[in-house]
Amino acid sequence: MLNWDDYHAEDGGNAAVAEPAMAEAAAANLADIQASEAAEAQQNAAVEAPLPETTVEAKAETTADSEVELTPEAKANIDAAAEALRNLNVAAGLEELEMGAARVSIDEKAMINCRADLNQLVPFKYDWAWQKYIDGCANHWMPQEVNMTADVATWKNPEGLTDDERRIIERSLGYFSTADSLVANNLVLAVYRLITNPECRQYLLRQAFEEAIHTHAYQYCIESLGMDEGEVFNMYREVPSVAKKAAWSLSKTHELSDPNFNTGTTESDQTLLRNLIGFYAVTEGIFFYCGFTQILSMGRRNKMTGVAEQFQYILRDESMHLNFGIDVINQIKLENPHLWTEEFKQEAIQMILEGTQLEIEYARDTMPRGVLGMNAAMMEEYLQFIANRRLSQIGLPEQFPGVQNPFPWMSEIMDLRKEKNFFETRVIEYQTGGALSWD
Ligand SMILES: [Fe+2]
Ligand SMILES: [Fe+2]
Repeated sequence: MLNWDDYHAEDGGNAAVAEPAMAEAAAANLADIQASEAAEAQQNAAVEAPLPETTVEAKAETTADSEVELTPEAKANIDAAAEALRNLNVAAGLEELEMGAARVSIDEKAMINCRADLNQLVPFKYDWAWQKYIDGCANHWMPQEVNMTADVATWKNPEGLTDDERRIIERSLGYFSTADSLVANNLVLAVYRLITNPECRQYLLRQAFEEAIHTHAYQYCIESLGMDEGEVFNMYREVPSVAKKAAWSLSKTHELSDPNFNTGTTESDQTLLRNLIGFYAVTEGIFFYCGFTQILSMGRRNKMTGVAEQFQYILRDESMHLNFGIDVINQIKLENPHLWTEEFKQEAIQMILEGTQLEIEYARDTMPRGVLGMNAAMMEEYLQFIANRRLSQIGLPEQFPGVQNPFPWMSEIMDLRKEKNFFETRVIEYQTGGALSWD
């Protein structure tokens, strides 16, 4: 098992306190490396010196007269490289690259089906997307920075948690350990190429990295607590309340992850929109909320505060993913009003209701009795409150009139800035965001 101290020792932060013997060995090593680099550079200079130009083509043509004895295989390889460069078509393989084309203007840019050059980040059309990228970077964190020592002691102590509390930890790690990989795969393998806007793609790249950090965080919790990894990671195929949510999300990515899928027709554009609603509004916007609420409630009761802190940072990232997704969905609607038909709206409402129902079933499975000051009925009301929010965020009518938020402290946690750490256990603060200043 890996404990928190081991993890920290591994991250290289302690180089300054290395033993003197180690420092000497490192210096000797460095001298060796430098000597061999110098020898290599000399050798290279001797090989390169007679060549009048530095291109592969020039090299291939002059090697016959040079001092270097090339093997027949090397000669053939160099000739093949030179031939490939002679035939290089600068437009091939670069989507929409047109030599001498006019500069990109904001009016040409669009969220989907855009033909403007996607390799040019600016000028920005969607300042909100760029701002979210900046904000996401300023919120950077890593799982190893959270101290898990108290959690390990609580988890190993037979009296540390009740059976119902243990069930919540196991189910949460079971669902989330694979859910974030599923979200990341959908982003990278399905959504990314279809969103034809570079500032949104910049945010998608940041989000994809954050999803990797989240999966890392769950793995880190599972390993720290010494849980059965196979059992936890396979839960999404074994425990029905977890499996159903995963299967529902997966059903929204199948069509898009086909490499032959393309947008450009009403039907295919609606398929993309269906995926975005399924992943941003339902998977990240509803499926995460029962587990987050349970774990954070545990943290508020001073139990498993390391796990709870990990979830707190993940929740902060997730609320930004959700808001980004909502903005993308609304922008696509604005630019393509013909997609938002009565029939499609009805379908979107049903998707959100299906997601809400699955999450309510998950709440019942994970809370057969009242636990941590909450129960399945309260969670049901909370999820209906969340569903109303998701519906109104994408311009659809609320389906659960009058429901209240039974857990107002959840919004408080989500809005927290990192310097006001909820559990007061964070060891490192990043400040990577903001503008450069030269004075
Ligand atoms: Fe995530
Ligand atoms: Fe996410």
